[in-house]
Parts: sequence; C-alpha cells; structure tokens
Amino acid sequence: MAAYNIVDHEYDVVVVGAGGAGLRATFGMVQQGLKTACITKVFPTRSHTVAAQGGVAASLGNIGEDNWAWHMYDTVKGSDWLGDQDAIEYMCREAVPAIRELEHYGVPFSRTPEGKIYQRPFGGHMRNFGEAPVQRACAAADRTGHAILHTLYQQSLKYQAEFFIEYFSIDLMMDESGCRGVVAIDMATGTIHRFKAHMVVIATGGYGRAYFSCTSAHTCTGDGNAMAARVGLPLQDMEFVQFHPTGIYGAGVLITEGSRGEGGYLTNAAGERFMERYAPTAKDLASRDVVSRSMTMEIREGRGVGAEKDHIFLHLEHLGPEVLHSRLPGITESAKIFAGVDATKQPIPVLPTVHYNMGGIPTNYMAEVVRPQAGNPDATIPGLMAIGEAACVSVHGANRLGANSLLDLVVFGRAAALRAKDIVKKGEKHRALSKSASDLALSRLDRLRNANGSMTTAQIRKNMQRTMQTDAAVFRTTKSLQEGIGKLSQIAASIKDIKVSDRSLVFNTDLLEALELENLMTCAVATITGAEARHESRGAHAHEDFPNRDDENWSKHTIAYVDDQYKVKLDYRPVHKYTLTNEVQYIPPKARVY
Ligand code: FUM
Repeated sequence: MAAYNIVDHEYDVVVVGAGGAGLRATFGMVQQGLKTACITKVFPTRSHTVAAQGGVAASLGNIGEDNWAWHMYDTVKGSDWLGDQDAIEYMCREAVPAIRELEHYGVPFSRTPEGKIYQRPFGGHMRNFGEAPVQRACAAADRTGHAILHTLYQQSLKYQAEFFIEYFSIDLMMDESGCRGVVAIDMATGTIHRFKAHMVVIATGGYGRAYFSCTSAHTCTGDGNAMAARVGLPLQDMEFVQFHPTGIYGAGVLITEGSRGEGGYLTNAAGERFMERYAPTAKDLASRDVVSRSMTMEIREGRGVGAEKDHIFLHLEHLGPEVLHSRLPGITESAKIFAGVDATKQPIPVLPTVHYNMGGIPTNYMAEVVRPQAGNPDATIPGLMAIGEAACVSVHGANRLGANSLLDLVVFGRAAALRAKDIVKKGEKHRALSKSASDLALSRLDRLRNANGSMTTAQIRKNMQRTMQTDAAVFRTTKSLQEGIGKLSQIAASIKDIKVSDRSLVFNTDLLEALELENLMTCAVATITGAEARHESRGAHAHEDFPNRDDENWSKHTIAYVDDQYKVKLDYRPVHKYTLTNEVQYIPPKARVY
C-alpha cells in the first residue's frame, strides 16, 4: 500500500454531514461546550436538505385546531404501523418547540395575514384522527429546506463550529470499546485525516442514487450507512423506499406535495380526478405510498397520459398566477425548465420517483446507534450516533409522511446534542488508537485508487440503478425481486473489475465516485434482499404476491448485515409499540389491502 500523508485531530464530537440534521447537531454540540468538528463532502449549503420544498410539520394550529396527538396518530398510521411509537411521540411533541426555535433562529417562514407562520395541508396530515385534512406543514414558500439549511448554517457559524469542507469520510475507526473516530480524505489535497472523537454522529443522508430516477442529489450515496455496514453494524428496514408521486416526467425533479396542498390535483388520460376513487376522503392528499400506487395503477391500466400513456398530469393552472408566484415559485420555475411547461396555463407531466429512504442505521430516540444483542434488541454501541435520513430511528416506519423529514432532522439533530451532553465528557483525554485503526479506510482507498479493471464506475453504477429501478419498484413481485437479487449479485461482483483512471490525489472525482459506488451497492443489496424476504405489503413495500399487511408475522423491523462481498444476512427486531408517556397508544386496525 502507498504511504499516505496522515494528519491527526482530536475532538469531543465529530459530525459527518452538514445537511439539516448534521448542522443542527453540530451547533447543538458546541452549545453544550463540546469541541466539535463537522466533516462534509459538499459545502454545507449545498447539502440535499436545500432541495426540500413543501414544509416542516408541527401542530402549531395556526390555521385551524391541531394537536401533537393527532400528528402522532397520522405518523403512526402513515408508517403503516411499523414506526416506533416512543420515537414518534418524542418527534411530534418536540415539533412545536423545534419550529419555534427555528423561527427564533431566523428561518424566513411565509406568514399568515396576522403574521403567524403559514401552514399548508400535506398528504396524510389530518385533523381529529383522520377526519379531514389539517394545515400542519410550516412553509417558506416552496423553498422550506433552503430557508432552514441556510439558517442552521448561519447558527453554526455564530457558534464557531469547526468545519472540514470537501472532506470525504471513508470509514469509521472502531475498537472493542466502540467507535473511536473517522478517517477522511481532504478532496483538494488528498491528505488523509484521522479524526479521533468520543462521539461520531453520522448525518450523511439517504441513498436515492441507488435508483435510476430519483429526486435526490447526486451526493445521496448512502456513505454513512455503508460505513456502518463495513464495521459489522446492521441496517434497518431498508426495503422501504418512498416514491414521491410527483417527480417531473423524464427528469425526476421534485414538484412539491405542497402543490396539491394548495389545491392542485392529478388527472388521467380521460381527464378524471382518479384519486377520488382510491382515497375518497383524503383524495390527492392521501399519503404518498397510496398516491404513487394509484398513479401506477392508472398507467398500468392504460389510462396514462402522453404519447406513451406513461405518466400523469398535475394541474395547478386553476390556482392562478398569484398563488403560484407567491406560494409555489420554485416549482413553477422547475416546471418551465425541466418540462417546458407554463404551470399557470398547462398541467405538469409527472411520475412517481424515488424520494426517500425510510431505512438506515437503527437508533433509539436519543440518536444512539443500536446493535441488537442476544436478549437485548435495543443495545447501543458506545461512541456512535446517527441522525436524519441516514438513520432509522423509525419515526417513519414503512412510509414517511411529507413534511416529517425536515422535522426529523431538526428534532433528532437536537436530541443528539442533548444526549451527548449527558454521555460525552468534555475534553476527556483520548486513548491512543491501535496501529490498525485506519487500515479499513486506507486499504479501501488504495485498492480503488489503483484499480485497473475493465469497467468504469459509471457503467457499474448504471447497471445497479437500472436493476433497482426495474426490480425493486413501486410494485414488487417475488419474481422481480429474485431476478433483481441475481442481477445485483453479478453487478456487485463486477466491482472487482472496476477501472479508476485517475491515480492522483488532487480532486480525484474518479476515485471518489468509485468509493460512492461501493456505498450505494451496500445499500442496494440490503434493500432488495430485505424486500424479497418480507412476505407482506406494508407502507412503501407493495408486494403483489402478498397484497395484505400481515401484522401477525411481519410486525417487526428488518435488520440487514452486509459483508465485504455484498452478501446480506437478515435478522429482525421488535417494533416499539409502547410510547414514552403512555398518554396515547395506537393499535393497527384491520389489515389494509393493496
Ligand atoms: O413534496 C415535498 O415538498 C416533499 C416534502 C417531504 O418529502 O417532506
């Protein structure tokens, strides 16, 4: 192996990732007096949180009555009863102070005429336990993620958090006591940095790019999930991949659900508002899994629009230019750029597109990473936390409600800092690392940097993305999933034949993309293997051979261990059906049929 130039650092806490969750955790840690570094592969304000559009959920009740127990009920129901109810209660209760806090930090929310935070309806958010839609998504026009991300970055600067920008985290450093830090490469110089930390917080986002068409940024490559898997930690509920109903046809770019919240609706080739048939109460504001499946059914049954009858129309033109320009300016622009459509006059062509990963690194509601042990399915691993889309605290279960993602980021980013205050000793001396502490990272880097096979990263990545798109789609069958597993195992094996042409260390994006490909592959095999094994339909996992939810056999979280040959071993752990306060508890009604 080549000799690499290594720089060592010591921190109380290292946060990996600078999206909403990472930034909220970073300055929260500094607020607790902990010496904290934030490592990020992109400039913080370019993190994928910037793309979140429609809103952040909280039962403020600014426009009609609301309360946290209704929000909790909707979230448990939306999760198709797979969400952990203690964590969901924590999130929905904390939502109200979390939004107030954001307001005080300076997030420029849109306002009601009386000056309160503007709230819009969003899919699955209902009043009084499912009675009628409620206005719960706090919005900054249709650029809510942008507004929140910039504000959180400003707060991080205010607290003088230390940033390592354009540093790519390669692998965790572990020993028998738990996590000891992380190894990263400075992309500009190729210098290797070992960050020792008493607590590492993984906040690296999702892995949408395992699919061909997604709303996720190109940076969403499951880096943290794969780092956890490579040190033998499990990934949880990876089979649950959310398709957003309204990605722009052909481009995948997001058109916010907030557009339907403002009164937009979907039609098929006959001009019919078909959601009235599938979800008579919530209609176009049913939860995303329901709307995505309904659209797919319409297309499959020959009622899609366009020459190929392969998409659906989203109508906003009746809302008028005033509403579009004040409340939905971003998507009006996206429709023009990516579909060539003037949304004030014409419908937007849309198609369900991969949007969110419910699965990730299992954690408790205090953000501590869970590694189940015999007799203790909730055992935690010292020194490691995960938050945001990289984590599976399981507030979203089998399907996330829109506007609960931005909420998850800020609530659990803050929770991580609060927990760290109790378990990390400020300024505690670091023990020496073992000689082999950085071997995993360096050998991987060196192997890929010198890889001289016959296939490019782009070829292998495309093969993986096409397979996932075709075989682990909105609807799955035993046949499609088994075929997909077979194909993916060959594609994963082809990584041995990868060619990286650039051997330098300075901004070597060829090498970085190969590292990302390995991370995506880890996530992809866990996803499709978990999906094949789950013989029921629940939330975003619609299995045509097993169309019912089966609470007797499948009310449990999937745990996937992925080895270095991309082989997956599955296990299961119980869902938390208890709450934190026992003030409320929700029991699933009869099984839902898909
Ligand atoms: O449709 C949207 O604006 C997306 C929001 C979300 O995924 O939470």
